[in-house]
Amino acid sequence: MSVIRLGDTAPNFTTQSSLGEINFHEWLGDSWGILFSHPADYTPVCTTELGTVAKYKSEFEKRNVKTIALSVDGVSSHQGWIKDINETQNTEVDFPIIADEDKKVSTLYDMIHPNADNNLTVRSVFIIDPDKKVKLIIVYPASTGRNFEELLRVIDSLQLTAYHKVATPANWKNGEDCVISPAVSNEQIPELFPKGHKEVKPYLRLTPQPNL
Ligand code: BEZ
Repeated sequence: MSVIRLGDTAPNFTTQSSLGEINFHEWLGDSWGILFSHPADYTPVCTTELGTVAKYKSEFEKRNVKTIALSVDGVSSHQGWIKDINETQNTEVDFPIIADEDKKVSTLYDMIHPNADNNLTVRSVFIIDPDKKVKLIIVYPASTGRNFEELLRVIDSLQLTAYHKVATPANWKNGEDCVISPAVSNEQIPELFPKGHKEVKPYLRLTPQPNL
């Protein structure tokens, strides 16, 4: 097991997937990436999750994000299950699912939490930027399907704050006011944020979203 923390380079690997052999870093290229594990093929919650990711294809593409799933099932299991996902979720899964039968990738990314389940991966999410740095890690239990709207929201925040000196407040959604980074002095504000700002407290300064 390795510990992966925010800001670390996402460990690279070469592995089998439903779409053939993949070298993770080469596959990512210049894109952002979401690597997410699920406990097992042919299970109900996972079926809805992968169907949802497929349905959000255009939302991920708009944000230059590639998605890749993982479980410890094999390639032929993935390929059979994809047909079920497409049929039941009325979509087309065209992103790869890693076949991690030897648990190489799930061990590398610490996706098996033995006190939850000794053999199956939990619902881990890693968001990786184009420099291959890990920008977000979330872990959900098997019993709770993920909210992919939240992952899109987080990507919007990560991409915004990567290029502008702002942070996003609680429950922020794309289009709403942002917090000016504490590292920005009041003197710098007019040049950096020409749309204006509101000082609620000296340490809490709001500005319209700068990239709109
Ligand atoms: C599911 O995807 O439905 C599931 C998988 C493993 C444990 C519980 C639920």
